[in-house]
Amino acid sequence: MSASGNRAVARAGDPATAAQRGPLPPYLPRRPVPDVVRILAPTGDRLWLVTRFALGRRVLADPGFSRAAAVAPAAPAVHPLQPDPASLTSLDPPAHSRLRALVSRAFIPHAIAALEDGIRAEARGLLRRGSPFDLVRDYTMPLAAATICRMLGVPEAERDRFAALADLGHALVPCTPRESATARAELRAHFVALLRMARRDPGEHLLGALVRAHDEDGSLSEAELIALVELLLNAGYETTIGQTGLAVLALLEHPGQWRRLVAGPGLVPGAVEELLRFAPVVPISFTRLARTDTELAGEPVRAGEAVLVSLLHANFDPRAHPRPGALSVDRTTTRHVSFGHGPHICLGAQLARLQLRIALEELVAACPRLALAADPATLRWRPPEAIVRGPTALPVSW
Ligand code: HEM
Repeated sequence: MSASGNRAVARAGDPATAAQRGPLPPYLPRRPVPDVVRILAPTGDRLWLVTRFALGRRVLADPGFSRAAAVAPAAPAVHPLQPDPASLTSLDPPAHSRLRALVSRAFIPHAIAALEDGIRAEARGLLRRGSPFDLVRDYTMPLAAATICRMLGVPEAERDRFAALADLGHALVPCTPRESATARAELRAHFVALLRMARRDPGEHLLGALVRAHDEDGSLSEAELIALVELLLNAGYETTIGQTGLAVLALLEHPGQWRRLVAGPGLVPGAVEELLRFAPVVPISFTRLARTDTELAGEPVRAGEAVLVSLLHANFDPRAHPRPGALSVDRTTTRHVSFGHGPHICLGAQLARLQLRIALEELVAACPRLALAADPATLRWRPPEAIVRGPTALPVSW
């Protein structure tokens, strides 16, 4: 099919009209777009952006598109930050499959379900503070810190230090770029110290299991070990903070949907999927590099060119979702790519779902009259170029 053929087909949905609050990355098209478009990234590189649900999933699952090649220093990139080549997200099979199998053990369903009571107790305790309340600072941030630390086995005495460094490192609190960079370096040193502690007292959690894999059977190199811990703490923290904030905001801006949940809390698990679709915290996938010359929706993609998927546009693709612009907690067949797809699909998806479900269930039960206590136009947001979106403060009352 020719390039003009691609442009002639029905246009992908327009997420910007669907109450997408907050800034979006500048290179994401705001209008309905063809299935595949060429974008100019802030790095000056040009990349292919896939905007369709089915095509996006195909690209994310296709071994013809490489992650390892996409993190090479000269590869076209969206962001100037150089990804760690030892990170799980930067590997192709078979190296990826080996590392993923090692760490997946900690994410098996019963290990995740075992965290439920602790997360719920934490959420209840936080809501006892009463209104006025900043839902980000007083709820989503401490809840996410407690959850990820519990999962990894970060000792309770170390949690405040981890959270303070992570908040600065991800610029979740006001700080200068220099303070943020210093905090990221300290965070790395903190991970090394935590691993040393886990060596002395491995326990039954993920840090201990990873240390054992490194020390005893040699299946994990030192660089892989540190990169993994860094990835898990980072990937598991700011994403759930942003996602919970976006989800609650979407509900408060659709009060009828909030009232549906208050009247029928059994709808919350379905609502979680719909909110993940409607307000995805990560709007784009990582980039992949085409291994060979190929074609996507009629566009010729050359070997070595970079492709990424707009998870946001794919979630609003009218071919995959009836009335994509409507938020409906009653949808029974929500499909989305908010956790990606294929071999790199989010390892923490079940943990993120659990946390989001509990956060909403407890809010609905404790604060049925929850309302925004600020003009939506005055809300503060993470910067548009951040990979992870979300409000940095959400004043609410009940
Ligand atoms: C709502 C919360 C979350 C969202 C929306 C999210 C989204 C994503 C997405 C889209 C990817 C795939 C990117 C790509 O292939 O291009 C990913 C990968 C990943 N996520 Fe999450 N994530 C969330 C929470 C978490 C949590 C809680 C953890 C761990 C505790 C986690 C750990 C990971 C890891 C390790 C990967 C890399 C997997 C691999 O490369 O094999 N994520 N996530």
